[in-house]
This record gives sequence, C-alpha cells and structure tokens, in this order.
Amino acid sequence: MKTRIIGTGSCLPDMVVTNDALSAIMDTSDEWISSRTGIRERRLVKEETTTSMSVAAAKRAMENAGITAQEIDLIIVGTITGDYVTPSTACQVQAALGAGKAVAFDINAACSGFLFALHIADAYLKSGIYKTALILGAETLSKIMNWNDRSTCVLFGDGAGAAVVRSERTGLLAYDQGSDGARGAVLTCRNRENNNPYVKNPVEPDYTKMDGQEVYKFAVTTVPASIKKVVEEAGLTIEDIDYFALHQANIRIIQSVAKRLKAPETKFPTSLDHCGNISAASVPILLDEMNRKGLLKPGMKIVLSGFGGGLTWGSAVLEW
Ligand code: UT7
Repeated sequence: MKTRIIGTGSCLPDMVVTNDALSAIMDTSDEWISSRTGIRERRLVKEETTTSMSVAAAKRAMENAGITAQEIDLIIVGTITGDYVTPSTACQVQAALGAGKAVAFDINAACSGFLFALHIADAYLKSGIYKTALILGAETLSKIMNWNDRSTCVLFGDGAGAAVVRSERTGLLAYDQGSDGARGAVLTCRNRENNNPYVKNPVEPDYTKMDGQEVYKFAVTTVPASIKKVVEEAGLTIEDIDYFALHQANIRIIQSVAKRLKAPETKFPTSLDHCGNISAASVPILLDEMNRKGLLKPGMKIVLSGFGGGLTWGSAVLEW
C-alpha cells in the first residue's frame, strides 16, 4: 500500500497587493520585482489568520477527498508563523473541524514544511498506526517581515494549502529529504527573546533576514540533485515525470532547475505571479490549483519539491 493524496484544498486571504501598490509605499518597482522573481502580486492577511486559512483549506481538501472529520487520525501543519506558540495550529484546526480522534501537531521545516509533513504522515500510514491524515502548509509571513526592508518584504505572501492522504494501491513512490543546519544563518528570524526580570537589555523583536544570493545558490544546486535522486529511486526517468510542483520562491530558480534537469519549463506550473513565496504553503497551494484546473490525471507521475530555511529540503515522486 502507498500513501496517496486523495484531496486538496487551499485558502488565500482576500487582500491583493500588487507590485505597483508596494512601490507606492517603498522604494521598489514592478519591473525590479517581476524581472528578478516572477512575482506580480501577493495576498496579505487583514482579518484572516494562519489558523482561519488552515481551517478553510482543510475543509476544501476534505470535501475534495469526500471524507468527514471523524475519519481523520492525524493532522500535521508545517508552519513557521502559527498564531500561538501553544496551542499548535494543528490543534486549533482539529478543534475547528471537530476531528476529535485525530492526533495533531505542528512542524517547523520552513519552506520544506509540507514535504516533511507528507513524509511523517507516510511513515505513520505505512506502519499501520493511522489510516487517514490531513497535512497542511500554512503561513502568515507578512507578520514576520520587516516592512522597511525592501529586499525581503516584497518576496513573501500569506496563505494555506492542505491535502488529505490515505493508504491506497498507488501514491508516494519515493522520497528524499535533508537538512543542513550549518548553513542555517542565510535565512533567519529569531523567536521572541528572553524577558525574565533578571535580563537587563531585552532586544527588539526580530524579522526575517535573508542572504538571497546564498539561498539562490543552495536552491539551484540542491533541488535538481534531490529530484534526480528521488526520480531514480522511483525507477523512473526525468522524461517520465508529467509535472514538477516546486516551492515557489523565484521564477529564476524554477527555470534553472528545469534547465539542469533538461525538462521543459511547461512541466513546471507556477503560482508565483499571484501568490509570491508562501513558504510551507507554496507547494500545497500550487498542487490544489493544478488539481482544480484538472491538470492531474490518474497515473500521472508528479514531483513535489520544497526547499528553504533551516536549511531544509524535501522531494517526493507521486503517482496521482
Ligand atoms: O523560500 C526562501 C527561498 N528564498 C529564495 O529563494 C530567495 C533566492 N534569492 C533571490 O531570489 C534573489 O537573490 C533576490 C530576488 C532575493 C534578490 O535578487 P538579486 O539579483 O540577488 O539582487 P541583490 O540582492 O543583489 O540586489 C541588487 C540590487 C541592490 O542594489 P545595489 O546595491 O545594486 O544598488 C538592492 O539594494 O537591488 C536592490 N534591491 C531592490 N531594488 C528595488 C533589493 N531589493 C529591491 C527591491 N526593489 N525590492
């Protein structure tokens, strides 16, 4: 039996913020942002939260899969921007769905969060411990941006994506994941600081900092290698893959990965232009868009790949 995605869902906040809108409040331009990244607009929260978007995405995925909340054994949310330190986003999703029997927890693997959640769910399903899992990537990145730092804040957006997975005849064929904490300093955001009464100099809250060029180099070398490895492990060739659904960080990274894999760019659908980079939510949102457009047909071979903060990366080959 294999872990199969049987339903997908996503939720984006209502507010659309175009590159032109950003250039009205900071020294940037549509030309700079779109030519370097492929991003034209992103959605940012006003009323929505990481939890509310997760719940909406989860409900859509459950409807798409045709399952009820009572059938869910496990809920895993990949996020670095949960609304609370505790309870976890997953526990809040469980409560909102009424998924009383589920075990629920969050994981932090930044932009690889959804891929790591998929792999954890796969291990539980394969071992027979659980039968049905709901996995999500959900972020409100706008709250950890320094809105005075144009080199980061223009790149990111908010949203949530979800998938229901179950053991079936076909599904996940191979998986690769990795971490390199030694290079973690290239993409950081410190958690809240110690403010106990004995600390003299509590520091200001931190925001996301990124050495964009180092992250770029990491992505264009690690991602093609990880994809090649996982495709080979699945007993397939790059030509056998129908679609590559990559983390949406930058169109130039996606083009470079396509070139290094010698695969046509038409096999790399994107959501970057209207979503920006939504970290853990990028891959499941893109997958849901592909699913709802009818691109995914039974038997197709799909590669998913996430990469980013940690540093972390994960790739999977699925038979749809
Ligand atoms: O999920 C996490 C994964 N993250 C990534 O994948 C990011 C990967 N990295 C990248 O995509 C690129 O490195 C960036 C898009 C972030 C930056 O592109 P770059 O070509 O590496 O630009 P840069 O950082 O070298 O900056 C070039 C210039 C600088 O000006 P000077 O020093 O040459 O005068 C920046 O100050 O562009 C300037 N700049 C901007 N100008 C207008 C930086 N941000 C902006 C901006 N608008 N928003």
